Amino acid sequence: MTTKPCTATIDTAVKACTALAATALVCAGIALMMAPAAAAEKGSVARGRYLVEQVGMCADCHSARDARGMIVKDTNLRGAPIGFKPLAEMPWADTAPPLAGLPSGWTKAQLVTFLSSGKRPDGSTARPPMPEYRLTKADAGAVADYLASLK
Ligand code: HEC
Repeated sequence: MTTKPCTATIDTAVKACTALAATALVCAGIALMMAPAAAAEKGSVARGRYLVEQVGMCADCHSARDARGMIVKDTNLRGAPIGFKPLAEMPWADTAPPLAGLPSGWTKAQLVTFLSSGKRPDGSTARPPMPEYRLTKADAGAVADYLASLK
């Protein structure tokens, strides 16, 4: 008679343990599914930083410069006047808009279209000296992820 409650307790404990183990497995599963997504985002931001800082040289125009021509750190990718002019008459923009945190009012998808086709959301193209980049969608996405990550 004394063994019955005890067995019941063990039984309950085993069931509780099984339930806990199942929950842990589900949690581990979710964590595993999310980890590659987070890693992919990090990889994309890193590639975007490389494309912006070492290939596209976006800061050359989209950041202000001091009297020695050095980029003023706090203005990095926050927009700036263009400090030079073409020798011949041509369409020309004398200001580069801010890019940090994405161009104002643009979605990532719109930036990807622009950097891979040259078309702004309204279908227009940017004037020189903005280069008409033809990045792959993947690289344009990486640039967008990096710019969006800047505050
Ligand atoms: C040689 C100078 C120069 C470089 C380098 C440059 N830009 Fe620009 N960018 C400009 C200028 C000037 C404009 C404004 C064009 C206009 O108003 O028609 C512009 C416009 C843009 C716009 C359009 C924003 C809007 O609101 O219309 C985006 C987006 C942009 N640049 C992104 C980039 C990115 C990303 C890079 C680097 C991969 C880059 N630019 C490199 C000069 C430059």
